[in-house]
This record gives sequence, structure tokens and C-alpha cells, in this order.
Amino acid sequence: MTTAGHLDPSDFGAIPPGVVSLEDWAPLARERLAPEAHAYLAGHACDGVTARRNREAFLAAEIAPRLLREETPDPTTRLFGRTIAAPVLVAPVAHQGLFHPLAERATAMATSAVDTILVASTLSTLSLEAIAEAADGGTQWFQLYVQPDRGFTDALVARAEAAGYAALVITVDAPVFGVRNVEQRAGFRLPAALAPANLCDAPADGGDGSLAALLARRPTWSDVAHIVARTRLPVLLKGILDVEDAARAIDLGAAGVIVSNHGGRVLDLAPAALDRLAPIRDRLGDRPTILLDGGVRRGGDVHVALSRGADAVMVGRPLIEALAVGGPLGVAHALRTLIDEWAITLALAGPPRRSDARDQ
Ligand code: FNR
Ligand code: LAC
Repeated sequence: MTTAGHLDPSDFGAIPPGVVSLEDWAPLARERLAPEAHAYLAGHACDGVTARRNREAFLAAEIAPRLLREETPDPTTRLFGRTIAAPVLVAPVAHQGLFHPLAERATAMATSAVDTILVASTLSTLSLEAIAEAADGGTQWFQLYVQPDRGFTDALVARAEAAGYAALVITVDAPVFGVRNVEQRAGFRLPAALAPANLCDAPADGGDGSLAALLARRPTWSDVAHIVARTRLPVLLKGILDVEDAARAIDLGAAGVIVSNHGGRVLDLAPAALDRLAPIRDRLGDRPTILLDGGVRRGGDVHVALSRGADAVMVGRPLIEALAVGGPLGVAHALRTLIDEWAITLALAGPPRRSDARDQ
């Protein structure tokens, strides 16, 4: 980048030859990134059982095509009143300054260009206001990590509202970050220069840094109820795997849930997110919004998730691998690749139908 705010053409990145699918970015990102940053991005909790299960669940799925239909396939979708290019969102990923000098600014530009939604993390390198500005009229949702200080949490939500964020995603599955052996072995530590901008004036949390102190300030249902009652934004709880937790979220006034195990980064041995989706949709009925993430890599995976009850999916690691290697252009290319695959799947198989999932 030249001076603040002005982009040099080289900042836009490039697409290496031969990159034709999301998974093609992974080996290139491994080559490009420092081993510690790569361990943080590509790693998982403990032995990675859950991370593997996320993929295996998709690999075991089937799509039964319905042919010769009259209607033209429509890859677009509507979420909370906004139409986007496809039911594919950019999952919240913290600390993007580790992966590209433009950090979340690159992801925001790419997401807007492709006309989908960026979910910006509380732990973003850049401030939520800077991300909204970079998105330049595109749609963002804000992912909230409930902070130990309730007043500070409320202020974060108010900032997201003021900056034009269209929904609030409260992540509830990571009160502690899990056992990150991959990161530990690589010696990953967040560089001080990349401390998250949104939290720079957070009050000291008063804890002694011990695990006991950390656990004592886990978010609870009463935090969720408090936030839902105060915000005018639709709220989704991210990290839901249990049918009754999903029902309780909706009872408390949440607009929906994101069925997710955090890409296998928190609780190892948790089930594949995809395997929990149909029961949660069955329990919640048609109205609440349900998203899924974890292991979505192909247009066919989008079809499978929608046929099991998701309104949309989110993608994490591959988009950030594309960011690391190809900058904003890489992220846009990766999103476009997935969306085009989804359109091809629609043309080949017809629209996803819930009845397909019930047979499984
Ligand atoms: C994440 N994820 C995440 N989730 C969240 O709610 N807040 C966050 O700040 C982060 N940070 C984060 C950093 C990195 C490096 C990764 C890879 C992931 C989890 C993310 O939103 C999503 O649930 C998973 O990445 C989805 O799985 P896949 O697509 O990576 O398999
Ligand atoms: C992670 C946290 C930041 O998965 O959500 O690394």
C-alpha cells in the first residue's frame, strides 16, 4: 500500500495459474505464510477430529439430480431483506492482518465486489468502522465476542449499529479457545502490533489471566437475552449444535442460529456441523434463519447444506488462504469460484429440496 487509504495496483493481488477450486489455495498459503501464522489459520483443536468430520460429512453426502425442469436456476438469495449473489457468506475470521497487509479491508472489498456478506470479527485487526468503510456500501454483519464488561459489550454493539452493520452474530461456542496444539507446536503468538483495534480501549478485565478466571466470565443465556433486548439488529447465535439450544435461542428472540463447531477449532470430538443441521431445522420450523459453516468447499456442499435446511453457508479458511496468496483479488476469485460451482450444481441438480434430506 502507498499512503493510508490509497491502493497501489499491486495491492489488489493476483491469481496464480492453475487455481480453479477453493482447495487449490491451501498449499500455496502454506508456502507463503510464516509457519506460525499458517498454524493459526489452518490449525484446529487437539487432534483435528472435528475438523476432519466437517469435511467427511460433505464427502458422504449425495445429491440426487432432478432434470428437465422448466424454471431457470437462480443462485441468489435473500437474508434479512437483502438480496445477495448466492447463499455463501464470508465467515468471521480474526486477526486478518496476519495474512495480508490490507487485513480485513481486502476481504471487505472482495466481498462487496462479489455482492455477498462479510461477517466481521470482534477480533479484527482493523476497527469495525474501517471495515464498513472499505466495504463501500456492501453488506456486513458484526460477529460479537461478549466482553467481560457489559457496558463495553453494549458499546461495541452500538458502534456496529451506527456503522451500518445489518445483523449481529454472537459467537457462543468459544468462551475459551480450545486446545490449540497445532499453534502451540509452531509457537504462534499474536504480534503486539496486530492487537484487535475494536478492543483497544476495553477496560481491564480484572481477571488474573488464570483458566478459572476465564471460565468464570463465560457468556450465558442472560447475556444473550440482554443483547437481544437492546439491539435493533437481527441476532444469530453462532456455534449451536444442540437442538434444544437452538430452540432456546429463538425463544429468547434471536432471529436465527449458525450451526457450527467453529471449524473444529474449539471442542474436538464435537459432531460435524452438517450432521446437526437437519434436526435443528426440524425443531425450529421454517421461519428462523439457519446458517451452517465448517467444511464447505464446493458448490455441491452448498446444495447439500441447503437441502438439509440451511438458508445459507459461511466459508472460513479457504477464503483467508486466498487472501494470503492472492490479496483482495484472491478472495473475490475464491468466492466467485464457489458461487459459480453452486450455479452449475443448480443447473445440474435442480434447486435443493428438504425432502431429499429427509430420506437420508
Ligand atoms: C475463525 N473462526 C472465528 N469465528 C468467530 O466467530 N469469530 C472469530 O473471530 C473467528 N476467528 C477465526 C480465525 C481463524 C483463523 C479461523 C480459520 C476461523 C471460525 C469461523 O468463523 C468458521 O466458523 C470456521 O472457519 C468455518 O470452518 P471452515 O470453513 O474454516 O472449515
Ligand atoms: C479463533 C477465534 C479467534 O478461532 O475465534 O481463532
